[in-house]
Amino acid sequence: MIHIPKSEYSRRRKALMAQMEPNSIAILPAAAVAIRNRDVEHVYRQDSDFQYLSGFPEPQAVLVLMPGRVHGEYILFCRERNAERELWDGWRAGQEGAIRDFGADDAFPITDIDDILPGLIEGRDRVYSAMGSNPEFDRHLMDWINVIRSKANLGAQPPNEYVALDHLLHDMRLYKSAAEVKVMREAARISAQAHVRAMQACRAGLHEFSLEAELDYEFRKGGAKMPAYGSIVAAGRNSCILHYQQNDALLKDGDLVLIDAGCEIDCYASDITRTFPVSGKYSAEQKAIYELVLASQEAAFAEIAPNKHWNQAHEATVRVITAGLLKLGLLEGTVDELIASEAYKAFYMHRAGHWLGMDVHDVGEYKVGGEWRVLEVGMALTVEPGIYIAPDNQKVAKKWRGIGVRIEDDVVVTKTGCEILTHGVPKTVAEIEALMAQARTQAA
Ligand code: GLY
Ligand code: MN
Ligand code: MN
Repeated sequence: MIHIPKSEYSRRRKALMAQMEPNSIAILPAAAVAIRNRDVEHVYRQDSDFQYLSGFPEPQAVLVLMPGRVHGEYILFCRERNAERELWDGWRAGQEGAIRDFGADDAFPITDIDDILPGLIEGRDRVYSAMGSNPEFDRHLMDWINVIRSKANLGAQPPNEYVALDHLLHDMRLYKSAAEVKVMREAARISAQAHVRAMQACRAGLHEFSLEAELDYEFRKGGAKMPAYGSIVAAGRNSCILHYQQNDALLKDGDLVLIDAGCEIDCYASDITRTFPVSGKYSAEQKAIYELVLASQEAAFAEIAPNKHWNQAHEATVRVITAGLLKLGLLEGTVDELIASEAYKAFYMHRAGHWLGMDVHDVGEYKVGGEWRVLEVGMALTVEPGIYIAPDNQKVAKKWRGIGVRIEDDVVVTKTGCEILTHGVPKTVAEIEALMAQARTQAA
């Protein structure tokens, strides 16, 4: 299995500590276990920030970084070993494992945190935490601070600065290392294979969930624990619902099916969309819209390179799509006017992409000092233009209504442009039709 090496977690902790102010402390909790119902839990997914700094996969843990601490800078509070609990729920690292396998300098039982952590915070001037994103943890933090305050008459010194960790940490997460790109390539490879499988399996009479099952099969077979987000399998008019998740409609000849799905490997997401005909052959109108979206995506790729800014790719898709809709008679006016009045938004109402990483909509600022961010090597993003013609749009000829097309790929900025991670799924009309025709011949 391809994964982030242990040495990388250590490098990240050091890089973060190098940016923290002198005499400070950073405190981050693991994700809480989410209850599905009664004693059934959702599949556990570690908090991305916590995972980024530790690679520690367990709940009920708190990571503490104390740059310059003589007795160790990296402290992990975690569950103790417990034969009875491990019999039911599985292996725990315990404090020994936290040190031996996860690089902690010091480790304590999570049940002792209220006794130990105030003493670690005391005397530090500044506390970094993910303030505001986890109200329960914020309350705990205030409780620990209040323990120190209550001892002020004994000379205890509470910190006087509380700083959001997000800015430092999320800027680090925006730049993907070689090891991260390798993991993202693997997630992309498995997801691409899943889309190919869904195209091959597609037949009228199946349901949207039948194709979702094909995706899930490839994800799990490839070693992914779960999809990176709820898979969208949207046939016919459902393709015009941007975040469709019902996935239970019948697949009918003559309809398109839009699949937006990707898996997660070692907590790194992939995010792919393809739109293909249930019958295996695009109609003339479907093909016209599809090729327009594809042309806009190609134009966007050309705008992704170091020193180009974040919005250039989006602007390129808007221009190509607007000009194309005008040519097809779906819009009237001039390209510049239609862009200025945002008339294209009736058909293309979302942005061309987002940062991609541990979160599918990854962290990182899109603007810096009020200006669009300039792209740099190692930034990962999606490129996902689309055109959606509402089924009830009375302003366009009937033949266009209900067509929804999105094409989405994942890229990483390189020195000379960008690397497309998701090239493993066919994309042109000819390639997709050939793949589907071949699958049908083989099945016959
Ligand atoms: N699947 C969510 C997105 O494409 O942004
Ligand atoms: Mn996306
Ligand atoms: Mn997507």
